[in-house]
Amino acid sequence: MNLLEKLDAAAAARKAMLPDGVGAFGIPIEEVYSATEARIGDRRVILLGTNNYLGLTFSPECIRAAHEAIDKEGTGTTGSRMANGSYFGHRALEREFADFYQCQSAIVFTTGYQANLGTISGLVGPGDTVLIDGDSHASIYDGCILSGADIIRFKHNDPADMEKRLRRLGSRIETTLIIAEGIYSMLGDQAPLAEIVRIKNEYGGILLLDEAHSLGVLGETGQGLVEKVGLLREVDFITGTFSKSLCSIGGFCVSNHPQLDQLRYVSHPYIFTASPSPATIASTRAALELLRKGSHLRKQLWDNCTQLYARMQETGYQLGPDPGPVIAAILDTPQQALLMWKSLLEHNIYVNLILPPAAPEGKSLVRCSVNAAHTPEQIKYVGDTFAKLYSTIIS
Ligand SMILES: Cc1ncc(COP(=O)(O)O)c(C=O)c1O
Repeated sequence: MNLLEKLDAAAAARKAMLPDGVGAFGIPIEEVYSATEARIGDRRVILLGTNNYLGLTFSPECIRAAHEAIDKEGTGTTGSRMANGSYFGHRALEREFADFYQCQSAIVFTTGYQANLGTISGLVGPGDTVLIDGDSHASIYDGCILSGADIIRFKHNDPADMEKRLRRLGSRIETTLIIAEGIYSMLGDQAPLAEIVRIKNEYGGILLLDEAHSLGVLGETGQGLVEKVGLLREVDFITGTFSKSLCSIGGFCVSNHPQLDQLRYVSHPYIFTASPSPATIASTRAALELLRKGSHLRKQLWDNCTQLYARMQETGYQLGPDPGPVIAAILDTPQQALLMWKSLLEHNIYVNLILPPAAPEGKSLVRCSVNAAHTPEQIKYVGDTFAKLYSTIIS
């Protein structure tokens, strides 16, 4: 099979999973009306598949900041952070992240994906080891591959398995980076951070926590899982993204290790890409301020997600173990998931469809992402619709 035929075979396999040419992936959103509503085809839908956890995409503060930055600094930096792409705003945002996490330093990357790629490949290299949760996000896997380090996986959220593998490393622990996530994106479950930290402190290693889905969501001031469980000082490096609670695009890494700064000189995903645009940086700075003051937004978010989680659980859906903004209905077959996804869209609700191998353990997911801007009426309507569809599709 030549290279193009291999792509044809992959396309055929995808079509077999998605009969009727249903375009579940990359669906065109024709117009966006608000943080919770958009038009898909001729339907006005509730957006229940975005990572806009604090619902800030249309906040006047973020929009105003972005407008002002475009007017003052233009549409793009047209260069790398390393060359001409570090404006005042990029450096200010780094200081603001360092202040937020009470850390010595922070680095801003162009995407959350690159924050993981750049941090991991800057910290470890050939001959070193990365010990990662088996359900890690692709950006973590890709960062590990880029680094050339040996990759060892432990069973998802299983500290005993992590401990076993760390113990086996012996003296190699000194050059081992352990990686976990605050909230896992597929099932919305949280890492057992206290156990992970205990094991790391007993055996050694450096710990990186990706707070992509937990920033703004967990903890009194929204720092993430580190704040919820009071372990900020025990984690060596925290990465995260601007594309979820901060409602723009970009990524960061913060640390108290002064060596973090050195990544700017060795990390290809930092050096060989253009820096975020001035408007992106300005709206992210405004969003970070709102996030820090946003306990009311977190309360609304948690009111919404606990309500929908409870309703879906009562109905009989199999869900991830932790209530939170990511609520995944776990279904046995891709056909069931596809039917559920299509039926929800016919009821004007947009969610994410996740089919194997992207979903854990060969299952398929219909994944909802709840946000602070969803109204009680929208949450009730979604819960009622899931309940109605359960009897026709599942039971
Ligand atoms: C856990 C995790 N880390 C990193 C990323 C990458 O972030 P971004 O999409 O902002 O590049 C994602 C994105 O979904 C994610 O879920």
